[in-house]
Amino acid sequence: MITVTAATGHLGRLVVRSLLDRGVPAGEIVAAVRDPGKAADLAAAGVQVREADYDRPETLAPAFVGADRLLFISGSEVGRRVAQHANVVAAAVAAGVPFLAYTSILNADTTAMELAAEHRVTEKLIRDSGIPYVFLRNGWYIENYTDNLGPVFEHGVLLGAAGDGRLAGATRADYADAAAAVLLGDGPTGVAYELAGDTPFSLAELVAEVAAQSGRTLAYQDLPADAYAKTLVEAGLPAAVAQTLADCDLGIARGELVTDSGDLTALIGRPATSLTAAVGAALKTD
Ligand SMILES: NC(=O)c1ccc[n+]([C@@H]2O[C@H](COP(=O)([O-])OP(=O)(O)OC[C@H]3O[C@@H](n4cnc5c(N)ncnc54)[C@H](OP(=O)(O)O)[C@@H]3O)[C@@H](O)[C@H]2O)c1
Repeated sequence: MITVTAATGHLGRLVVRSLLDRGVPAGEIVAAVRDPGKAADLAAAGVQVREADYDRPETLAPAFVGADRLLFISGSEVGRRVAQHANVVAAAVAAGVPFLAYTSILNADTTAMELAAEHRVTEKLIRDSGIPYVFLRNGWYIENYTDNLGPVFEHGVLLGAAGDGRLAGATRADYADAAAAVLLGDGPTGVAYELAGDTPFSLAELVAEVAAQSGRTLAYQDLPADAYAKTLVEAGLPAAVAQTLADCDLGIARGELVTDSGDLTALIGRPATSLTAAVGAALKTD
């Protein structure tokens, strides 16, 4: 049995899809989700749906019972994840899970990005649990940008605070394929894969790609981090989220979202989806 947490999220759904595409019978997959009501389509496809809320420990161990391979997808509530993730790890131990893969952040043990702190604590919890593990240290999703092009087209500008820094973004689908490969493979445990796209790009290069493919006049405007955060708050984001995004851009400026590991390509057995292809796909669905 392969159990996937947060399977109603964007990444979780793609992992389930990738497992099905690789021939795993639907009945051998457990979608362990916070809200089973959101997983009706997965249940209709024959996937087992179980409640697994990181805030409700009593739901977790029962959801993990019988799992041979558990994909633990990090939660989305930044600032609350240490307690939530501790619940998940404790439940995996209680359920006797023999293998766990965790979606962490690229360069988790060296980056100074604030967002990495919860991932570092979670990795330690997993190491200390004794469960054989793999860390899937995912870099940025290209969709972080391509899913949010509305304001860029509206104002003709992508704002950021990353300077000339490059990030090796990859598509969620590629990270999902890498997770599926690890879940179905018999590779080593106790390892961390540094997962990222093959060709790093700056935010100016990203916006130039969108401009070229859309025929629009668009530019990247770099701001000091505090001014960028202030602009995001004025646009309606909570202050903490704005501050985190600005801090992430400083991490990109320092070069902390690139790697030359080649791990993503090696796991998926093909080149990562290019920025050009990802932008093209996003513009087609706009
Ligand atoms: N690498 C990147 O660029 C990047 C960007 C954003 C996020 N992330 C991280 O990667 C994870 C997966 O990305 P994604 O695109 O799939 O994010 P997403 O679409 O926002 O999905 C987040 C998932 O986490 C689930 N979740 C949140 N709190 C939970 C809880 N208390 N108990 C159980 N499940 C909970 C959500 O459940 P519901 O479906 O019920 O809402 C959802 O399924 C995120 O959660 C975040 O940790 C990475």
